[in-house]
Amino acid sequence: MCGIVGMVFKNPFSARDALTSLKRLEYRGYDSFGIADSNGRIQKFVGEIDETKAGDRLVNTTITHTRWATHGNVTEANAHPHTDCTGSIAIVHNGIISNFSEIREEMKAEGHRFASETDSELIAHFFEGKNIADSIPPFFAKFKGEYAVLLIKKGEDAIYAFKRGSPLVLGIAQDGYVLASDIYAFSDRTGNAVFFNEDEFAVVGKNGYEFYKVNGKLEPSEKQVTAFKWMAEETKKDYEHYMMKEIKEIPEASRRLLDSLEAEQRESVESIVSLVRNAKRIVFVASGSSYHASLLGIQFLRRAGVEAHAIVASEFKNFTLIDENTLVVAVSQSGETMDVIEALHGIKARGVKIASLVNVPYSTVQRMSHSHINICAGQEVAVAATKTFVNQVLAMAYIASLLGYAMDMRSVTGVFNSVFAQEARIKDVAKTLATARDIYVLGRGFSYPVAREIALKLKEITYIHAEGMMAGELKHGTLSLIEQGTPVICLAPKGDNDIMSTAHEVAGRGANVIMFSDEARGGIKIDSTGKVSFSVMAAMAGQLLTYYIAREKGLPIDKPRNLAKSVTVK
Ligand code: G6P
Repeated sequence: MCGIVGMVFKNPFSARDALTSLKRLEYRGYDSFGIADSNGRIQKFVGEIDETKAGDRLVNTTITHTRWATHGNVTEANAHPHTDCTGSIAIVHNGIISNFSEIREEMKAEGHRFASETDSELIAHFFEGKNIADSIPPFFAKFKGEYAVLLIKKGEDAIYAFKRGSPLVLGIAQDGYVLASDIYAFSDRTGNAVFFNEDEFAVVGKNGYEFYKVNGKLEPSEKQVTAFKWMAEETKKDYEHYMMKEIKEIPEASRRLLDSLEAEQRESVESIVSLVRNAKRIVFVASGSSYHASLLGIQFLRRAGVEAHAIVASEFKNFTLIDENTLVVAVSQSGETMDVIEALHGIKARGVKIASLVNVPYSTVQRMSHSHINICAGQEVAVAATKTFVNQVLAMAYIASLLGYAMDMRSVTGVFNSVFAQEARIKDVAKTLATARDIYVLGRGFSYPVAREIALKLKEITYIHAEGMMAGELKHGTLSLIEQGTPVICLAPKGDNDIMSTAHEVAGRGANVIMFSDEARGGIKIDSTGKVSFSVMAAMAGQLLTYYIAREKGLPIDKPRNLAKSVTVK
C-alpha cells in the first residue's frame, strides 16, 4: 500500500519537483521512496521522503513511489521503482498481487532474476522485451489482486498506466500531465482530472493521452474531464505537529460542516434522508475511527426510530445479509480504504443503494455511491483521525435530527472550544500516564464508541496498550486485569450513575481512575450541553491526552510507526 506519482511534461523539470509532488502522498506510507526517469536513472531511499535526495537534475518523465511495506522488509532493494532484467522497464505499483508466489516461480523457471522480495517487481519482468499495449490484456488475465501501475521505458517520454482495484487518476496541468494515486498529488497544479475506471489502461505522453478499456482486448474509451475543488494542504502554521493543529481546528471545521449541510449540500442531505426513509434498515460499513463514528451513528438513528447496524469493512461479507431493502452507508475519511471499497464492490453488483460520508472529494467511495455527503473537515495530514472523526459524528447526528431525533446541532458545536480550557490539566494527567503499560477506557451508550476511539488513539500514537470497553462488560472478565495503579478512564456524562458504580468498583480494586465528567468530580471537566456534545468533547479531550502522552514520550506524533493514513490494501 503506497502512493504513486508519474509526471510527463513538455518542458524539462527538476527531479526534486517530482519528489515534492510525491511528498503530498506521504500519508499513504513512509517506509521508503524512490524515483525513476526516462533516461534510465533510478534512485531509492529508506525512510521518509526527502525531496533533496534526487538532486536538481532536469528530467522529462518520472515515476515515483512512497512505500508502506507489504511483501518484503523495509530495505532499499524492496523500495520502488523496480525494473526488469534488462533495466529498460521501470514500474511503480500500489496494491497487492495475490497470486504472486506462483507467478514468481514461473518467471524464475523462465530465467528472470529478481532484485527484491516484492510482488511488484514481477510486473516489470512480465513486460520485458514486449510491446506494452499488446501485453496489457494478457497482464490483466494473469495478475490477480489489486494494482495501480505506472510504467516507463528507457528513452521514451511516455507513461503507461493501468489499474484494477487500487485508485489512479490523471491530472491535466497546463504544460503536461501528472498520474497519481489521488488528486492530493497535483491539486496545487491543476483542478482538472480524469479518473480511471476499473480495468483501464492509458498511454500518457507530453502532448496528449489515450484511454482504453481492458476487456480481453483493448477498446478505446472516451473519458470525461472532471473539474474539482479541494482545500489545498495547509502548513503546520505555528504548531509543532499536524495532530495538534487539526484538533484545534475542530470548532471551525464543525461550523463549516453545519453551514454546508444547511446550504450547498442541502440537496445531498435530502437525498440521503429520503434513502434512509425508504430503507428497512441501515448498515454502516467503515474501518478504524470511521467505524467508531458509525457506532455513534447507530445510536443517533435509533433515537429517530431507524434500525441501523455497523460492520467493520474487512469482515463485512461475513456479518451481513444485504437485500434491496437495506441502505448501505459507507463512512470513510479518505474514501480509499480498500476494505470499504471491497465491501461496496460486493453489494453494488446486486443493485443495493449506497450512500457515503467522505472527507476527500472525488474519492473512490464517493464515486461508487448513489448519494454522498462531504464532511468538510479539510485536509487531515496527521495519521490519527481527529477533526474528521468529529465531523463524521456530527454529520450522522444532523441526519438523525432531520429524521426525528430532537437535538439542536448549533448548541452542540457551540461549546467545543471549552475543551481547550482543560488543556493544562490534560497535560498534567498525560505526564502521569507516560509510563503506563495498559490503559482502560470505559463508557456506556454514546460514550462507548468514544471509549473505543480514545483507546485507538492511545494505541496508534502513544504505543500504550489500551482497551475501550462497554463499562458493563468489565465485570465479565477484564476486571481481573485491574491492579494497584492501573489507569482507567471513565467517561461519565451527567446523570450516568451506572458508570459511577463502575468507577467505584475499579477504584476499590486499586485502579487509578481518571474521570472525564461534566460534573466537578476531579479528573477532566467536560463542559457539555448534553449527551451528544459530551461524546464529541470527551473524544477531543482523549485526542489531547493522547497527543501530550506521545509528546512526553518523544514519539513521532504525526507519523506513528507501521501505520499509514490511507490503507489501500486488504
Ligand atoms: C487507517 C487510519 C485510521 C482510519 C482508518 C480508516 O487505519 O490510520 O485513522 O480511521 O484507516 O480510514 P478511512 O479513510 O476509511 O476513514
